[in-house]
Amino acid sequence: MTRMLVTGGAGFIGANFVHFWAAHRPDDTIVVLDALTYAGNRANLAGTDVEFIHGDIRDTALVETLLAGRNIDTIVHFAAESHVDRSLHGPSAFVDTNVIGTLSMLNAARAVWLAGDGKPHRFHHVSTDEVYGSLGADDPAFSETTAYAPNSPYSASKAASDHLVRAWHHSYGLAVTTSNCSNNYGPFQFPEKLIPLFLINALHGRPLPIYGDGMQIRDWLHVEDHCRGIAAVLDRGRIGEVYNIGGGAELPNITVIDTLCAAVDAAFAADPALVLRFPGAPAAKGVATASLKTYVTDRPGHDRRYAIDETKARTELGYAPTRTFEQGFADTLAWYLGNEPWWRAIMDGSYRTWVDTNYAGR
Ligand code: NAD
Ligand code: TYD
Repeated sequence: MTRMLVTGGAGFIGANFVHFWAAHRPDDTIVVLDALTYAGNRANLAGTDVEFIHGDIRDTALVETLLAGRNIDTIVHFAAESHVDRSLHGPSAFVDTNVIGTLSMLNAARAVWLAGDGKPHRFHHVSTDEVYGSLGADDPAFSETTAYAPNSPYSASKAASDHLVRAWHHSYGLAVTTSNCSNNYGPFQFPEKLIPLFLINALHGRPLPIYGDGMQIRDWLHVEDHCRGIAAVLDRGRIGEVYNIGGGAELPNITVIDTLCAAVDAAFAADPALVLRFPGAPAAKGVATASLKTYVTDRPGHDRRYAIDETKARTELGYAPTRTFEQGFADTLAWYLGNEPWWRAIMDGSYRTWVDTNYAGR
């Protein structure tokens, strides 16, 4: 039985992973360590019986106490500052959390797991395809051997953390694996990222701010498929190896946005109750949601294209995404429509203040 420490387990992907793991491995023990930053939300863990520790990954003594005291044998390290736009406004927090925080986790794992004769263990690090930089239209997709070329403070900090994880394996023998995944979407995603932000804006009749020409390309990965991929790495991944995990859905932003607009229109047409719940939505007045599309100044240094070559994960681990983007998006829309209190509480809180300060007029 695994005794697992999940860092960042109150965030979007971490919480989905906790639900996924608890459903598939009910006999395992899960401890969540999360600082509850603006992105962390205890409500994301409702219905689980994990032990929740409100603390910071940079507190190495705390992490050592948890690893030793709870007899943890597996770390799945999600905790991070994760939003590119925020990293452009305040890069220091990204170095503090993503680099210094990962260093702290590695130091604690080394101190506890490699002391004396050592004990069987695994440190799994969750990273991003953004470390590989930006692709041209005809470039081959990112593989695990693509040279790192991060372009934003966020991706630079994640790249640094990946290098630390690699070095702790080669220098000290820590049993690590790393996964670099593409853009996730699904339940519990904080409404600053493209899909939940645009969905909620559409329901309120607010503009949908499309950066630049909207032709940037991302590979979209439903978060449950990502969780399945991490589980495959934990089960079958080779120690010291890196695995790219993608969703097999390389799409220009404008296609994602048009899909979203059409799906919102269809949902209102199919369910008259939505008209009463969201009277500010264009769809409630018979106007196309697409009328909210607004082209705004591009993000500085905006990466043009990400694409994942997941041959290694498919052949070595048997990983394959199970949802098409259309299925995954329909599930996600249904989740946000069915969980209004979840996002309403966030939108009424500090997040709106931050958006109003930094994105006035968007
Ligand atoms: P998120 O921002 O939704 O959640 C991050 C969580 O980490 C929050 O619960 C927050 O409270 C916690 N946290 C932040 N700083 C902390 C600290 N110092 N100590 C303890 N906890 C802290 O992020 P996410 O989207 O769930 O991303 C999870 C991981 O996956 C990150 O490492 C991110 O880089 C990576 N990733 C995300 C995506 C994506 O599309 N969201 C894509 C690729 C990789
Ligand atoms: P985002 O969800 O921030 O993820 P990432 O920057 O990590 O890829 O953005 C996804 C894409 O959507 C990215 O190309 C930026 C674009 N985008 C917009 O056009 N408008 C927005 O308001 C946001 C948040 C993102």
